[in-house]
Amino acid sequence: MAITITFLQQLPLAATRVTRRQQSFYLAIAGDTPAATVQNMCGIVGYVGRAQATPILLDGLRRLEYRGYDSAGLAVVQRGRLETRKCAGRIAALAKLVRKEPVSGSLGVSHTRWATHGKVNDQNAHPHFDASGKLALVHNGVIENYQALKEELIRDGDTNFRSETDTEVLAHLIGKLYDDSCASTVDAPGKKARLFDAVRTALRQVIGTYGIALVHADVPDFMIGARRGSPLVLGVGKGENFLASDVSAIVAYTRDAVYLNDFDVVAAGTDKFEITSLAGDSTEHPVSKVEFTAEDVRKGDFPHYMLKEIFEQPNTVRDAMRGRLNHEECTARLGGLNMVAPQLRDVGRIVLTGCGTALHAGRVGEYLIERLANIPTEVDYASEFRHRNTPMTSETLVFAISQSGETADTLGALRESRRKGFRTLGICNNVASTIARESDGGVYMHAGPEIGVAATKSFTSQLVILTLLGLLFGRMRNLSAAEGSRVIEALEALPQQVEAVLDLNDQIKAIAKKYANANGFLFFGRQFNYPIALEGALKMKEITYLFAEGHPSAELKHGIIALIRSDLPSVFIAPDDSVFSKNLNNIEQVKARKGPIIALTSGNCAKHLKEIANEIVVLPEALDYVMPILTAVPLQLLAYHLAAQLGRDVDKPRNLAKSVTVE
Ligand code: F6R
Repeated sequence: MAITITFLQQLPLAATRVTRRQQSFYLAIAGDTPAATVQNMCGIVGYVGRAQATPILLDGLRRLEYRGYDSAGLAVVQRGRLETRKCAGRIAALAKLVRKEPVSGSLGVSHTRWATHGKVNDQNAHPHFDASGKLALVHNGVIENYQALKEELIRDGDTNFRSETDTEVLAHLIGKLYDDSCASTVDAPGKKARLFDAVRTALRQVIGTYGIALVHADVPDFMIGARRGSPLVLGVGKGENFLASDVSAIVAYTRDAVYLNDFDVVAAGTDKFEITSLAGDSTEHPVSKVEFTAEDVRKGDFPHYMLKEIFEQPNTVRDAMRGRLNHEECTARLGGLNMVAPQLRDVGRIVLTGCGTALHAGRVGEYLIERLANIPTEVDYASEFRHRNTPMTSETLVFAISQSGETADTLGALRESRRKGFRTLGICNNVASTIARESDGGVYMHAGPEIGVAATKSFTSQLVILTLLGLLFGRMRNLSAAEGSRVIEALEALPQQVEAVLDLNDQIKAIAKKYANANGFLFFGRQFNYPIALEGALKMKEITYLFAEGHPSAELKHGIIALIRSDLPSVFIAPDDSVFSKNLNNIEQVKARKGPIIALTSGNCAKHLKEIANEIVVLPEALDYVMPILTAVPLQLLAYHLAAQLGRDVDKPRNLAKSVTVE
């Protein structure tokens, strides 16, 4: 069942003409099981202007589709009343609903919901409404004290709840405050001011997180947004303004953006906007130019964003080091760290934190920084680090690694680290992200928008940056100029070498085809390539849904070897390096137990694998510091081709979202 709701502006809800279909909606939600729905990783788009809002709202949602969602909805003010369409399922289903029952108007909000708990159904889809049905609200985040707020509203006589969601409680609270303040006749500007006030007053009572956008049928050229913990950006157009949870939703319409901070509330009309604090004080915000264009977020000729992004890596790897190599002094130039030489020299310990793929990059970073700079380095899951009372000394430097710059756990770790007084830097791709803005400095990846849910190009950019960090710190300590220069040469050779790896695409595709019926995959590597085994397994799990595990090769004999069987291939990352012969022993152990072997190797080592491995992928030779960048790419391709072969939704794998803004 999809939902179409029309709220009549002039009548109280009790007197509203409600069609039979609408009635069944109210009844359905009245009987819905109470559950606080948590909306996160969701998409928000809002529009106020002179154009038709519906196509813009739908288009914006489609541009956020890659983030993952399970239901979608929109509300538009049409001739003084709210028209709503919402349904569980894909945006295509919402678009179909809109085609069947078109909505016209130049003010509206839309939303894609990604449920983390609570039912996925039409009723829980956003927008939600206030008691009068004149206010429509979309929300990302969690209102933690929604029960208490709701009880108070009920005590005050509000019995008109149509769902059990936390979002609806916020809509009711704002609506009530607004209605109370408009008890006497108010003119149009007065209504705007009172709605703006009502939003701030309500949000001051909220415990929890939110990114919201709302419209009210009383004020048909006015939209309000606010954020705390969930990103929200204002797109500034000519005669129109936009709200979005991610700038990529609106970049086709404007590249002028104002990134809101926590506790900002913005009111936007067609030609102007105002931002205040929750207390109502006006705040100044710069209008920034969005770095990328709508073209950058198109798939081009590639069947999937993921494949496009894998193939972008020769360029993104180059962009990550562009302007950052100092040939003369055989070191790296990273001005964004905002640290002068004596401070950099004083760093006695480094902590690298992040989640998922970013954490795996950190694990490579640990090897890199220890080897190049001899600084004790530790890697920790952001989710663990933030709750752990790890002893830190004053010379500790913390790096939060995050493509999106919005991952809740990584942001939590950054805030915890700063609270304790440690200098905390970011390694981010999204320049306007919360992590980028809240850190003491950092390094941008410059990889361009990454749309595929599975991280690919951001990972190799992170590895380049971590190599640059190792080089910079190393050259301030005991790394010789000659060694520094070798690292620079190795980095500069990478774009071409990545091209050469991409030339192996057909071979890897054929391997994927051959092993499409495998029951899962094991990944093994040592030293710099142990984290690549973890990353290879993560890619495989995420998009093929097959069982996959990554381990240090030597761990095989400590238990994993019990898993070896003929339908479980082992992927060995065994380039020509100081641990090749050790890897070879492990490969023999698998061979002896009839496990199929796919080996990634380089240089002369291929000949040692001829009689043992079922498949051999020969990569360009490179210094072991940078080899992980070359070994990661074929594993991305392997996971991609297998997923495509299995008919998986490669760019939007089930249950996953691009940016995880819940803990
Ligand atoms: C894996 C993947 C996730 C992210 C993780 C952190 O392909 O995409 O594991 O790496 O959620 O995301 P960011 O880097 O945005 O903090």
